[in-house]
Amino acid sequence: MTDLRHAEVDGASIAYVDTGASRPGATTLLLVHGFPLSHAMWREQVAGLAGDCRVVAPDLRGYGESTLGGWPRADEPPRLARYADDLAELIPRLDADGPVVYVGFSMGGYTAFPFFERHRSLIDGLVLMDTRAADDTDDARDTRLKMAEKIGEWGAGRVAELMRTKLFAPGTAEGIIDEVVAVIASSDTASIAASQRAMAARPDSTEGLGSIDLPTLVVCGAEDELTPAAEMRSIAEAIRGAEFVEVAGAGHMAPLERPDEVNVALRRFADSLT
Ligand code: MLT
Repeated sequence: MTDLRHAEVDGASIAYVDTGASRPGATTLLLVHGFPLSHAMWREQVAGLAGDCRVVAPDLRGYGESTLGGWPRADEPPRLARYADDLAELIPRLDADGPVVYVGFSMGGYTAFPFFERHRSLIDGLVLMDTRAADDTDDARDTRLKMAEKIGEWGAGRVAELMRTKLFAPGTAEGIIDEVVAVIASSDTASIAASQRAMAARPDSTEGLGSIDLPTLVVCGAEDELTPAAEMRSIAEAIRGAEFVEVAGAGHMAPLERPDEVNVALRRFADSLT
């Protein structure tokens, strides 16, 4: 992976990969990772797409090499809008001279909705990947809040083991599974708690899908257990003109499990905007 850059954003140092095509007008792909991961989940997209696009892959506040910067403040419950606002601060500093595409994976996709509401003018296209528009069921919300409360006691290793069985299609190489589990196990527990509380509080964005007026690509692993392909197909149907790509043989971690198929879809979408 290439060297990381750092941007000071509202009390936090946000680390990001910034690499790839320097040709004028190239599309910039802003790759926004899931929970509780880091830019490392995009290694195949960074390697495979940098010849065609500019590829920017941040670590969200508190993950990877980014600091948490005192968030959340005691008087302010955590919301996904915090991540959206950080990304909105970062984008103008990139000085992109071509289209900018927000690529949101899972929690990064949940964050796309507040980003769209607050900062729509900063992007020219949207990719929603292995994510959902609906809010949590009561059970899912309770599970998140329990983890947020107990994570100090449990440690991130327990989260990694809980997630290990849910993230991948059967037959995924052990090396890939171990790599993702190691990233989760090394995540900061305060960041895990903040994300879980923020995700538990997110509203249902289904109604708003019809107002998305950006070129949109929806991508999902055919065997994704966490954010099922049927639900993602409905998201694509609700967004005017959106394309849906189902990735055969992939679970939730489609960008790592089936990088070639994901990269073909991203490259085609990026090209369609230039
Ligand atoms: C993710 O990959 O970001 C998580 O699975 C999202 C979630 O916990 O709902």
